[in-house]
Amino acid sequence: MTDKTAKLVIEGRDPIELPVLSGTMGPDVVDVRSLTANGLFTYDPGFVSTASCESEITYIDGDQGVLLHRGYPIDQLANKADYLDVCYLLLYGDLPSAAEKKEFQHVISHHTMVHEQMRQFFQGFRRDSHPMAIMVGVVGALSAFYHDSLDITNERHREVAAHRLISKMPTLAAMTYKYSIGQPFVYPRNDLSYGGNFLHMMFSTPAQDYKVSPTLARAMDKIFTLHADHEQNASTSTVRLAGSSGANPFACIAAGIAALWGPAHGGANEAVLTMLEEIGDESRIEEFIARAKDKDDPFRLMGFGHRVYKNYDPRAKVMKATCDEVLSELGAGNDPMLKIAMRLEKIALEDEYFIEKKLYPNVDFYSGIIFKALGIPTDMFTVLFAVGRTPGWIAHWKEMISGAYRIGRPRQLYKGHTQRDVPGK
Ligand code: SDX
Repeated sequence: MTDKTAKLVIEGRDPIELPVLSGTMGPDVVDVRSLTANGLFTYDPGFVSTASCESEITYIDGDQGVLLHRGYPIDQLANKADYLDVCYLLLYGDLPSAAEKKEFQHVISHHTMVHEQMRQFFQGFRRDSHPMAIMVGVVGALSAFYHDSLDITNERHREVAAHRLISKMPTLAAMTYKYSIGQPFVYPRNDLSYGGNFLHMMFSTPAQDYKVSPTLARAMDKIFTLHADHEQNASTSTVRLAGSSGANPFACIAAGIAALWGPAHGGANEAVLTMLEEIGDESRIEEFIARAKDKDDPFRLMGFGHRVYKNYDPRAKVMKATCDEVLSELGAGNDPMLKIAMRLEKIALEDEYFIEKKLYPNVDFYSGIIFKALGIPTDMFTVLFAVGRTPGWIAHWKEMISGAYRIGRPRQLYKGHTQRDVPGK
């Protein structure tokens, strides 16, 4: 809070004084809450200039390409901590001590199984359903199974729901995959790391255990870390908005999954791979770049551009390095998709259109190539984003519910008919 004020002057009215709020970092914020009492609203479709809440979780400086979770830079978290450290950090505000980590790891690994009856839910879906469609359904359905963690006014219930979601998301994600290929579900294993257990549930079968490579398990862990939170993005804002009505946490996360699915958001990782496959050969890159620049063509370069970053997405840098590690472990360094991606990135970064609009690769640009190398099918990519983003969604939901909040209720600039009468018969 500062004692700075802004003055809004509208012709024919007395000036309105508005407080200007300062955060610990980032731009000042004009507090417009009193405008409604003056018969005015602000107009900001897409929330381009609007802070929807106060938060202590994540900070982004889009011009500098900085991303901090609770003050820690994302590259340090990805390289020096693991995903469960980051989950703990997002939920509780600090990195865990050794004892706290041990306890947290125990809690998370001991809640990874889902209620046996959940298996029957899957039978209701077509085998060729999009995995995100199934995830929206089954995550929402958790609220039908875990009644003992639905009281949002109870701090312990909120914590149990948070743990359950972080524990069970990989299980549900892997079940979704197994269902789509007609294989039996594989139960989780407590002796494996979070990333390693996920790969086990995806690729083991009752006939053969999948040998989890430590390099690949670590890469999976890093990818989850890079997706863990990103401030008030579309899906997190959806979770907050759903939660502001008092809806239960499982329903709120299902709403977040639905918002994530779109190709402008988390669905972009799937769209990147589809785009690279469509390009097919380095010789066609220029053609696709020209299409991306053409206003009359709806095609956009997937994995490029960001509402907040006007610089290289710091997550994309770590993702690119992880991509190199994974491809070299798998001996897939000559992957044609990777070659097209690297060439495409180079050409776009040197192109005047992309330079002028400050369009850089985002988190989704390289993740798909890693997923593909790991043997994960394209339509599962966004599911993996959802698994990684779960602690972020819950941390924001928990932060909101733990403090003072009101139901989210935007207003509008009405452009419809003025009042008119229904004609008599
Ligand atoms: C994520 O918000 C988050 O934090 C999200 C996220 C997270 O972790 O939660 O980081 C995850 O969603 C990453 C973004 C994934 N999406 C894509 O990769 C899809 C491709 N990118 C875009 O469609 C776009 O860049 C958005 C949706 C990401 C951002 O949209 P904005 O902020 O509304 O910007 P815009 O679409 O208005 O673009 C500004 C200009 C436009 O041109 P002009 O009308 O000014 O002439 O840039 C152009 C756009 O046409 N542009 C592109 C482009 N992205 C923007 N042109 C070609 N290719 C692109 N990819």
